[in-house]
Amino acid sequence: MRIQTARRLRGRVCVPGDKSISHRAAIIAALVEAGARSRLTNYSTSADCASTLDCLSALGVRVERAGDAVEIEGAGTKWTHAPRESLDCGNSGTTMRLLAGLLAGQPFTSTLTGDASLRTRPMKRIIEPLELMGARVSSEAGRAPLRIEGRATLAPIRYALPVASAQVKSCVLLAGLNAGGRTEVVEARGATRDHTERLLSLFGADVRTELKLYEDRLAPFVSLETPANLRPQDCNIAGDISSAAFFVAAGALLPGSDLTLAQVGLNPTRTGILDTLQRLGADVAIADKRAESGEEVGELRVRGHDRGLAPTATGANVLRGELIAGLIDELPVLCVLGTQVEGGLEIRDAGELRVKETDRIGAMVGNLRSLGAEVEEYADGLRVRGRTRLRGARLESFGDHRIAMACAVAALISEGESELEGAEAVAVSFPEFFTMLESVTER
Ligand code: S3P
Repeated sequence: MRIQTARRLRGRVCVPGDKSISHRAAIIAALVEAGARSRLTNYSTSADCASTLDCLSALGVRVERAGDAVEIEGAGTKWTHAPRESLDCGNSGTTMRLLAGLLAGQPFTSTLTGDASLRTRPMKRIIEPLELMGARVSSEAGRAPLRIEGRATLAPIRYALPVASAQVKSCVLLAGLNAGGRTEVVEARGATRDHTERLLSLFGADVRTELKLYEDRLAPFVSLETPANLRPQDCNIAGDISSAAFFVAAGALLPGSDLTLAQVGLNPTRTGILDTLQRLGADVAIADKRAESGEEVGELRVRGHDRGLAPTATGANVLRGELIAGLIDELPVLCVLGTQVEGGLEIRDAGELRVKETDRIGAMVGNLRSLGAEVEEYADGLRVRGRTRLRGARLESFGDHRIAMACAVAALISEGESELEGAEAVAVSFPEFFTMLESVTER
């Protein structure tokens, strides 16, 4: 795809439903009392969330989809339909890690697989707790395909997460639905997105989060009591803030921009991007904030200014520590933004980026250097020099949706034309990305 420099972005867009919430809402709706129907609206249009629905169907769940509305019939927490074939999770780590938790507590054996990228991603992080709960999981040296020998009743555990991962936390909590008693997850490495907790509680489960001392510091302890007695719900899914982030960043980067994003999810475990952008000098305002289906939503307005971006707080040029988990999916586009911020941007403690859909550190270092940015690479992050003129270049997504969208934003602020290889990867989370971007771009 060829992408030209943009002058500014103006208008109003409504990004599709949140990917993380959509996966979870579909899975939890499938677990309510048998025969009871839930209706999910503004369901994510992503290929990843379609993978979750396909896997649920293959497991015998009744799923009806009409555009962004999905109706799901509950099958209870105990399933009987052993899938005939491997369940294909496509490119979706969330599908694989969350379904693994559910399948660990079923009285049959099933296999989860995925595309070439997903088959390289680390799965020991879920195998370990699921085996502690009594399931048996075989893998290819810690990678998919995963063959899960479920147990009808799992043992409840208290598990301290060795990595800050919402997918691992959710995997253990979903397994916990089929464990007698109290399952507890300690977010020992920092808090992560809490959509699973919110949705389980919306659907009627007893889930609580308390801040308690773990080792020598405060950590969230998330506990789930069973039996959960899940009841059907109608749920309108908030717009995906991680998709909105590309528009917000582009608007902040292009002087004269004035862009409104309607109905964006503002869950505090996801809004790290907004705080970070504000600390880096971006003009981002939140309006019309309200609660919907157990989540916060609101409207974002971003304006770009001639003065450019300069930090408004000391230390804003370095992102590290527990901040990282709340920003993890927005780091690629923040690398792009960092090339224009006074003082540049350094990202550390983000080694997890190397095991996403591609090595996102390596991918951004290479692409930004092609555009003329000055970048230093670290094992756990990178540092970009600020206020740098970028020139159009040949860019590569490596099949990763967020790399593709971050490169597209970089191309908009670069002189001349860029050529993006693998632009179609955006469909993994945001199929409408390029048409929506075009609709607000002025050249
Ligand atoms: C997600 C959690 C994060 C995130 C991913 C979606 C989720 O992954 O990067 O895009 O929906 O739980 P990790 O749990 O691996 O950090």
